Amino acid sequence: MMREKIERANQFIKENKGMINNVYRQSYHLMAPVGWINDPNGFVYYKGEYHLFYQYYPYDSVWGPMHWGHAKSKDLIHWEDLPVALAPSEEYDLDGCFSGSAIEKDGKLYLMYTGHYEREGIKREVQCIAVSEDGVHFEKIPGNPVISDQHIKGIAQIEDFRDPKIIEHRGMYYSVVASKTAEQRGQILLFQSDDLFNWRFTSILLKGKKEQGVMWECPDLFHLDGKDVLLISPIEMEKKDNSYENINSTVAFIGEVDWLTGRFNVENFHEIDFGLDFYAPQTCIDKQGRRIMVAWMQMWGRNMPTNDLGHFWAGAMTLPRELHVEKQQLIQQPINTIYTFITDKKSIIEEKLDNSSIVIENNGTKQFYIEFSGNLTLTKKLRMKIIRSNDSAIELIYEPVTEHLSISRDSFGFSITGAETDKLTKRTASVPLIDNRLVLEIFRDTSSIEIFAKGVAVMSMNFYEKGQSEPATLSVVGMLEQVEINYGLIKV
Ligand code: FRU
Repeated sequence: MMREKIERANQFIKENKGMINNVYRQSYHLMAPVGWINDPNGFVYYKGEYHLFYQYYPYDSVWGPMHWGHAKSKDLIHWEDLPVALAPSEEYDLDGCFSGSAIEKDGKLYLMYTGHYEREGIKREVQCIAVSEDGVHFEKIPGNPVISDQHIKGIAQIEDFRDPKIIEHRGMYYSVVASKTAEQRGQILLFQSDDLFNWRFTSILLKGKKEQGVMWECPDLFHLDGKDVLLISPIEMEKKDNSYENINSTVAFIGEVDWLTGRFNVENFHEIDFGLDFYAPQTCIDKQGRRIMVAWMQMWGRNMPTNDLGHFWAGAMTLPRELHVEKQQLIQQPINTIYTFITDKKSIIEEKLDNSSIVIENNGTKQFYIEFSGNLTLTKKLRMKIIRSNDSAIELIYEPVTEHLSISRDSFGFSITGAETDKLTKRTASVPLIDNRLVLEIFRDTSSIEIFAKGVAVMSMNFYEKGQSEPATLSVVGMLEQVEINYGLIKV
């Protein structure tokens, strides 16, 4: 049954991938060959390569019955498309193979995903297993679903029970699964198994407070730098200062799992990306022991220009990021392999910039890197027109008094509006100076920008430029000292 559905999808992709419009296609971020993608799934380092699956609807550039798309990579920059891994085919996943994860056991690759059923007023979400000998072709196991109603009676609702992430801890398999309480709050459930087939409920790992959203999605749990980290993607988390301005946010809880009681003791939590487009991240650990994260670089509830324009594709992943925990904060660094693809490198060094402007001659290219650092002692405002075209710009503004960094796509390019009440076109992050110095790394691809304020904050955003790109400029109101700008093109 599933085999036919997969063959149909693969055939469709083969025949239609030539139909997409490439204008906004990314050059070093993973996208599907054609159609719609959302969450990264099953991110795993398997037999010497990174495998990344994703929520996939190949037949249109809007969300539809979910399949799992699949790609693999050696360097996390170049991705090779593989055949579709999962397609809805059984009673328990008839309306979609929703998000989940992957794990290797005895050389085989196991996927754990949510079977979604929704028709005639009945909605059910259950957890299922599929297995592969070669990491490419998967079979759903006959014992599916492996976690369903009877596991969660009185604890959670079967309507919203999804996104299992499998982990191994001290010789036991665990799965963290997102769910909703009867009072419409998010909660993460913990299950355990010796063999990946038989699962039992362990505990409620963490329950959300009223202000922490009406549902949590896509949990991930890992141990890093002496702490436990629980990532979740809440819906409608209440805004606080500059945080949680999108309807869908991503939060890192930092603390410790008490494995005897199965509870997560929270010591700190914070939003992990202050851009307009970042959701549902997932991590994996590789051979070198690095914890690497990828997220969907889009947002629910907004129009997607590549769909509006009939380009026949929608959605991309973020640049993979290496994670660390420092002082109860999750720190993200761009994956190091990206630096080997920066070419045509140039530098601008200025002792002092006094109420002046400089132009960063990046040829108006659509794939570039800028590293900026400067001392802001006397500066009133720093304004970077990072992407300019047709007299409008994507601006990055830093205000030393408030230590706020903001990015805006207002009136730039193709308009994007969404479910947020105000027309949300700008976001702000708190970026404290370190010894009066601001250090930013900026990665631009055709239709996205990711800004890493080193060790402090990350902002990811899409934009759909109209017209030709012009060189970026930097203007300073006040005085900026010891300025160093290193920049180059990204050619992969
Ligand atoms: C998150 C999400 C998941 C679900 C999937 C469906 O973006 O809503 O909770 O499994 O997308 O595509």
